Amino acid sequence: MNTNRPVQVGVDYYPEHWAPAMWEQDARLMAKSGVQIVRVGEFAWSRMEPANGQFQWGWLDQAIDTLHRHGLQVVIGTPTMTPPRWLTAQCPDILPVLPHGQTYHEGVRGHRCYNSPSMRKYSSRIVQKLTERYARHPAVIGWQTDNEFSFTDCQCSACADAFRKWVRSRYNTLEQLNQAWGTVIWSGEYSDWEQITPPYGGSPFQNPSFLLDYSRFQSDSIASFQHLQLEIIRYNGPEHFVTHNFHSYPQKADQYKIAQELDFASFDYYPNPSPNKTETAPYSGALALDLTRGIKRRNFWIMEQLSGPPGCWFPMWRTPKPGFLRAYSWQTIARGADAVVHFRWRSATGGAEQFWHGLIDHSNVPGRRFKEFQQLCTEVNKLGERLQGSTLHNEVAILHSHDQLNALQIQPQAEGLEYYENMKVWHRALTKLGISTDVIHSSEALDGYKMIIAPHLYLLDENTANRLQGFAAAGGILVLTHRSGVKNDNNVCVMASLPGLLSACSGVRVTEYDPVGVDPIQIRDEQGHTYAASQWADVLELSTAQAIAVYADQFYAESAAVTRNSWGKGEVYYVATQPEEAYLSQLLRTIGEQGSLSEIQSLPDGVQVTTRSGPNGTFRFILNLSPQPASISLKASYTSALDGNTKGPLLELGPYDIEILEIQ
Ligand code: GLA
Ligand code: ZN
Repeated sequence: MNTNRPVQVGVDYYPEHWAPAMWEQDARLMAKSGVQIVRVGEFAWSRMEPANGQFQWGWLDQAIDTLHRHGLQVVIGTPTMTPPRWLTAQCPDILPVLPHGQTYHEGVRGHRCYNSPSMRKYSSRIVQKLTERYARHPAVIGWQTDNEFSFTDCQCSACADAFRKWVRSRYNTLEQLNQAWGTVIWSGEYSDWEQITPPYGGSPFQNPSFLLDYSRFQSDSIASFQHLQLEIIRYNGPEHFVTHNFHSYPQKADQYKIAQELDFASFDYYPNPSPNKTETAPYSGALALDLTRGIKRRNFWIMEQLSGPPGCWFPMWRTPKPGFLRAYSWQTIARGADAVVHFRWRSATGGAEQFWHGLIDHSNVPGRRFKEFQQLCTEVNKLGERLQGSTLHNEVAILHSHDQLNALQIQPQAEGLEYYENMKVWHRALTKLGISTDVIHSSEALDGYKMIIAPHLYLLDENTANRLQGFAAAGGILVLTHRSGVKNDNNVCVMASLPGLLSACSGVRVTEYDPVGVDPIQIRDEQGHTYAASQWADVLELSTAQAIAVYADQFYAESAAVTRNSWGKGEVYYVATQPEEAYLSQLLRTIGEQGSLSEIQSLPDGVQVTTRSGPNGTFRFILNLSPQPASISLKASYTSALDGNTKGPLLELGPYDIEILEIQ
């Protein structure tokens, strides 16, 4: 299967939404505009199989042939997010059962249980027929499984049976299960496997070990549902790639599990163009893209990219200002996207999403946004082959784990303490310093990094603790935070001084803690500057660590709030509270300079810098993702890969303007 391709632009197209007479003009305009890839099919089950076992391919043959005639490449989505009405009428076990027993009905999408035997059977059949039909078509290059996997917390009998099996294979005996989940508390002990059920409702405060396992089970259910499709796709189209389009994080499903068998991850990217998001959108987007690159630790695709004002699920957002669409598309490439497929070619005139705007409005008259899209296509086509095979090489990684998010959502620790929100602040501080960062799963190998930031290792196992200590001992810089080492993998508190397994390498011991929540507290650094902090305050006893900031108020004033400890050839920092971003930024700059990180500079608000290098050169992307002009001081002058002119050392970028420089 070939994933080494030039960087290209695409569109999401729904031929079944338009009269066949329009397909030809649409394909012609796509090709003329520089579009290279078209995704089709992912919701069209009722057209592919209008009645049980009756398949109709004529329309899709014609649509794909039309695209092919215009030189366009096609990605086909399997249509399993939208089982047709004839199917759910015939097999009601397909419909999920929600907590408290209501049925999740047809009418929108996602009305399917991943464990339903009927769903699995009919999904496998449609994927079999679809791949048999199109895997040899010369236009088809790859497949997308389903669409934006998520789960409904289904509680149907198929899920109950599957969960029972899942629990049994994880714990083997009821004794071990009761021990692992701590069920003795409140007489929750299981005495028969039949008593294992999904959380049926009632109190939301059920046993947290059970809730975490149910969530893990649901992600595994998606992965095994997808596996059935993957086997069929790979058999019929062995040379094709298979991907899935994830939606933005935080989400319910564990992306790492779902992506395990995929060739690369894809992401649906809808940066918010509203003025009140101007300051945050560039950074939350950057994190989402870095996280997507980290799922498989390789370049990814954008399978849906913002094309106009979104709406329908909420009142419409503002329309993207001139330059916004182009700049945010380049942001995805700058962070490792190898394709940017835009959602959608034209806004739907019917259905629930009429006001989630595409590139072309309902009028079918291409306008300002479409012209900007054409400019993007021209630019990407000019550089696409040069960027082929290029990747980011970062010295810093943030560790992420879906289990941490889940566990911290099951038992919120303090008001305002949110796993992903806190990760955003670390990532934003790094991004503003020009430090390009990977976001990887906490079980990944850490070789090659100079600095690892590991926010909230709330659930901690020995393996992770050992790898992190080893990383620091070998010369790495490890940054740990409060709420680490609190629990084991079963979501049960450990009987040890925190940060538990990381206490030795951090050289600190938590003697008590104060869940301060949204109350403001203060810390003071060694230069005497004070900063706001909130959420949490660990009171520390230092064994070998030194304080580099102290609490400036509360009854623990003057005790350590941030510490540094030498560990082997490296250093371990412990951040015992949640300081405001300005402090984290200052801390990261200092640590980065000591750790000789190669790229540290302060960038103007909204400006982001990343570098892709590969067989055809090294390209530095400098993006102004803000509505204000920006001046950036470069180390030297460079040739622009966009227009061939010399740029710098002072680079002036207009609102939402971008530059790509060739670095020797
Ligand atoms: C998701 C879906 C698309 C579309 C967009 C807009 O990304 O995958 O089908 O619905 O949202 O809401
Ligand atoms: Zn179910």
